[in-house]
Amino acid sequence: MPKKLLSPLTIGQTLLPNRVFMAPLTRSRAGQPGDIPTALNAEYYTQRAGAGLIVSEATQVSRQGQGYALTPGIYTDAQEAGWKKVVEAVHAAGGHIALQLWHVGRISHSLLQEGGAAPVAPSALIAEGAKCFVIQPDGRQENVPTEMPRALATDELPGIVAQYRQGAARGKRAGFDFLELHAANGYLLQQFLSTNSNQRTDGYGGSLENRARLTLEALDAVVAEMGAGKVGVRLSPHFVAHGMADTEAEASALYLAKEFSQRGIAYLHIAEPDWAGGPELSDAFRAQLRAAFTGTLIYCGGYGAQDAEALIAAGTADAVAFGRPFIANADLVERFRVGAELNQPDRNTFYGGGAPGYTDYPTLDLQPA
Ligand code: PHB
Repeated sequence: MPKKLLSPLTIGQTLLPNRVFMAPLTRSRAGQPGDIPTALNAEYYTQRAGAGLIVSEATQVSRQGQGYALTPGIYTDAQEAGWKKVVEAVHAAGGHIALQLWHVGRISHSLLQEGGAAPVAPSALIAEGAKCFVIQPDGRQENVPTEMPRALATDELPGIVAQYRQGAARGKRAGFDFLELHAANGYLLQQFLSTNSNQRTDGYGGSLENRARLTLEALDAVVAEMGAGKVGVRLSPHFVAHGMADTEAEASALYLAKEFSQRGIAYLHIAEPDWAGGPELSDAFRAQLRAAFTGTLIYCGGYGAQDAEALIAAGTADAVAFGRPFIANADLVERFRVGAELNQPDRNTFYGGGAPGYTDYPTLDLQPA
């Protein structure tokens, strides 16, 4: 039995029953129209309430922040009400859930934007090779290349921060245990952080401190709503998809980790190079991150029970998040406890559709002995 992985953990004021966290997973099943969480979404999350902490799928803080059709939002009353039902159901099942606050920046398309506008970004640079997901005017759903973004003017940035702030206010009202600021995976905040995608000459570009400014301003807005003890941030140093090529990825993550510590935020969630490729994180960098950040440190990236246990035993991580294993095994914690085989996820049902491949994977108690 992976003892450390299954031991409780207190983050901020919140006692979590184990360190097997559920990673944020885009499943593209929000209710339409309006990108509103549904009863089916509530059932999916509730089935997974055994996780030490569920991190919700990435959830756009505005229409402008959407890059994929059918992902949920947190900027309308109906979306907030939908999420409230999800949270209540997870809590009734004894679980804990964080809301991941998301703005995709340039990973978008005019078909997803209000009035067919261009997506926004730190600089007018296209994300080479990146795709987004749209519904065409004739109803066809397809992955298409992202479009050339428009560079945000300096005086628009307070409006971006305000998008995160209203998302945080709504997330708090919906009852989430934590809010997670998505500053990873080549979306808006990482576009500002990364040396190649940020060519700005104002106070938000150039130096590392300037490139980190928007992330910290968004974080401060989220903290102002929720309280630092209930806020986490996700970073993905060395993420190479979505056109990211940051020559200062480690320095930037370490600078941010120190800034996060000063603010006393609850956790730092590191998405390792995994599904998107990229170099492995070195032990030296992991040790530096550990030293720089005083809160709970979570790693995510293709782990199994044994290597996750080893990471916690070594003191490198406090918790580990699992993505694909949680798609196919709602009772993942129980399976780790008894050493059961895992169901394998079916890629064909990762995105979109209804219950098949979403809420119908068999759990242990349903399987013949
Ligand atoms: C995706 O929908 O492909 C996606 C969303 C959020 C991420 C990464 C990938 O952080």
